[in-house]
Amino acid sequence: MRAKETAPGRAIPHESASLHVAGEATYVDDIPELAGTLYVALGLSSEAHARIRSIDLEAVQNAPGVVGVITAADIPGVNDCGPIIHDDPILADSEVQFVGQPIFAVAANSYTAARKAVRLAEIDYESLPAVLDVATGRQQQSFVIPPMHLRRGDAEQALQSSPSRSQGAFSIGGQEQFYLEGQISYVAPKEDGCFHLWCSTQHPTEMQQVVAHALGIDFNQVVVEMRRMGGGFGGKESQSAIFACIAAVVASKLGRPVKLRLDRDDDMTITGKRHGFEFAYDVGYDDDGQIHAARVDMAAQAGFSADLSGPVVTRAVCHFDNAYYLGDVAIDAYSVRTNTQSNTAFRGFGGPQGAIAIEYIIDNIARQLGKDPLQVRKLNFYGRDERNVTPYGQTVSDNVIHELVDELESSSDYSARRKAVAAFNRDNEVLRKGLALTPLKFGISFNVVHFNQAGALVHVYTDGSVLVNHGGTEMGQGLHTKVSQVVALELGIDVRRVRATANDTSKVANTSATAASTGSDLNGKAAQDAARQIRNRLIRFIAEEHGANLADIEFAGDRVSWGSGEIAFDELVVQAYQNRVQLWSDGFYKTPGLSWDREAMQGSPFYYFSYGAAVSEVVVDTLTGEWKLLRADILHDAGNSINPVIDIGQIEGAFIQGMGWLTSEELRWNEAGRLITHAPSTYKIPTITDCPQKFNTRLYQNHNVEDTILRSKAVGEPPLLLPFSVFFAIRDAIASLADNRINPPLRAPATPEAILDAIDALRGEHQ
Ligand code: MTE
Ligand code: MOS
Repeated sequence: MRAKETAPGRAIPHESASLHVAGEATYVDDIPELAGTLYVALGLSSEAHARIRSIDLEAVQNAPGVVGVITAADIPGVNDCGPIIHDDPILADSEVQFVGQPIFAVAANSYTAARKAVRLAEIDYESLPAVLDVATGRQQQSFVIPPMHLRRGDAEQALQSSPSRSQGAFSIGGQEQFYLEGQISYVAPKEDGCFHLWCSTQHPTEMQQVVAHALGIDFNQVVVEMRRMGGGFGGKESQSAIFACIAAVVASKLGRPVKLRLDRDDDMTITGKRHGFEFAYDVGYDDDGQIHAARVDMAAQAGFSADLSGPVVTRAVCHFDNAYYLGDVAIDAYSVRTNTQSNTAFRGFGGPQGAIAIEYIIDNIARQLGKDPLQVRKLNFYGRDERNVTPYGQTVSDNVIHELVDELESSSDYSARRKAVAAFNRDNEVLRKGLALTPLKFGISFNVVHFNQAGALVHVYTDGSVLVNHGGTEMGQGLHTKVSQVVALELGIDVRRVRATANDTSKVANTSATAASTGSDLNGKAAQDAARQIRNRLIRFIAEEHGANLADIEFAGDRVSWGSGEIAFDELVVQAYQNRVQLWSDGFYKTPGLSWDREAMQGSPFYYFSYGAAVSEVVVDTLTGEWKLLRADILHDAGNSINPVIDIGQIEGAFIQGMGWLTSEELRWNEAGRLITHAPSTYKIPTITDCPQKFNTRLYQNHNVEDTILRSKAVGEPPLLLPFSVFFAIRDAIASLADNRINPPLRAPATPEAILDAIDALRGEHQ
């Protein structure tokens, strides 16, 4: 049975790998352009918060090459593209709320003409007070959504009676998605008031809806098509909407095809990022290091509007426990309104922010007790039959963290290397090494129950080739590859016979965003359902036509066999077609057993959990704050992996991306609220040279206890938590300067500057 459940080909390359490397994969900007296409540039606010007294666009209008200009007044429908709460103007109307907010759009015969024209606008602003940081917004009780509260037991009482307390603050910065392909939308007007939109988006259905709202037309008048993105990372879940809407409004007003492709600086200036968080915590523990109570106040930088802050902060709250049983818990979470970009989804979706806070606290406790942090981590892991309920009330019933961490501890040679690091540090004053092992547990499903559904269409053609279309989008993560493997397995054919096509709102309707790592779980099951229906029809046909016993019929190796006979798959489908058997089908899936009470923050919001752990070893130059990751060992649970090479790619990619978030990627705004790190010149993402020389990534041998697609586990986001080990290895190296007895106040990202600040503070205390 297990063998049969293994996807054909298993470790096959990404379906577009050869197109990617040959430069032949079509992204939105590669689609052959229609005659008369216009190019759009955006006029952006230069103020963080202001009333617009007047806008003079005459010079813009008259500039060479300009065909048209639009402002909020030109939007025929609703001036809003907010995904949940309707507080996201497409174009600022009377008020601007951050530096970079689009106010008007210029359509011209070339991008250059449009960009030159944009600069000729005269806008008169009346400045208003701006909130530029979380602390100020929190003080002013300026929130984009109401605060959230989670309670279990009596945390106050449990804190009082705990033998020791760890109290303090921790801050973690945001992160730019830095997809290689920037935001882009291309809109073509069609007959009878209809529109076709090619959009680099994780959420075609939402683009269809917001465009229809902006134009005041029906959903059935808008088709959105998305073959692939050059990366999304959460940044194209809701944030593609504003560009889709602007392009559509221009196309509708001018009656011409319109392309809106942002340059990198505008993209970074306009779009939201990962939420930065500030934590204040009070945790009670005993002499062994076991935690009895935790009280935490978390404040996220939401930016000027709600966007996805509600679900992001919910996920942060639901991941503060990470892999640990925390006893009595009180969490208060605030989505702070600031006059900055509206922060949004980014791989992990708040989960990494919540979880790193508890890791920081455990790291503190270990040092306060003079123990190896790994010991304290293990002591607090969720139990099997007790101490196994999360603060939000879900029982952790698939826990493998103990076995997984034990295996990694030995395969990475943790204890010997712990000693070697200590020996190195005894002999070296300036260069210090650090080592850390951190675990992860990550909940899989959308916290909003109804998003957990998907649809698919499978067509079998009479030559035996197969087309699959489903509600998910491809952003490099290998979703189409996995879904094709699932369909191939179901029909017993070579995966090369299966082609996945562009996501298209006119094929599968009402899709959810490809997000929360659920892409293959949801769409894989929906595609399996569709393929299974075709297979069942073929089975009935064979039974009738060839007198086969239903139970004997098997689909494998491009052939279908039964007790006495067999037939090639392509011959069978011709026969079936000639006998008028329907060779295509739709399929549907909804995740079972989910519940979530948003008010009480209680329920079982996750179908299952993913687990993993990493060990990182770093060397830090304590004079300059520079550091290097020497070695990383990863053991990650992808269940019964559908495609191990794609999963390992996801794990390593997430590890390095998360390492960037925690170390080199720093977002800075100036006093006027302008993002000054808006290009790769000032914003440093990791490169190949930042990857460790020794990078050992392995999949943990497991299969999902839940009935997921082929018993696999989602892998897109969870591994972003693995590089916590890098951050804590750096902290470990710094702490060695004070004999590992004092907790260095290291903030994230741990840039060389932050590292030096932590060293200074440590030396100050160590006097
Ligand atoms: N991998 C690549 N190469 N590019 C991406 O944009 N996005 C990540 C992850 N892996 C991303 C990626 C994010 S944020 C999510 S939610 C998942 O992929 C979405 O895809 P899945 O649900 O199919 O795993
Ligand atoms: Mo991923 S942040 O859920 O798009």
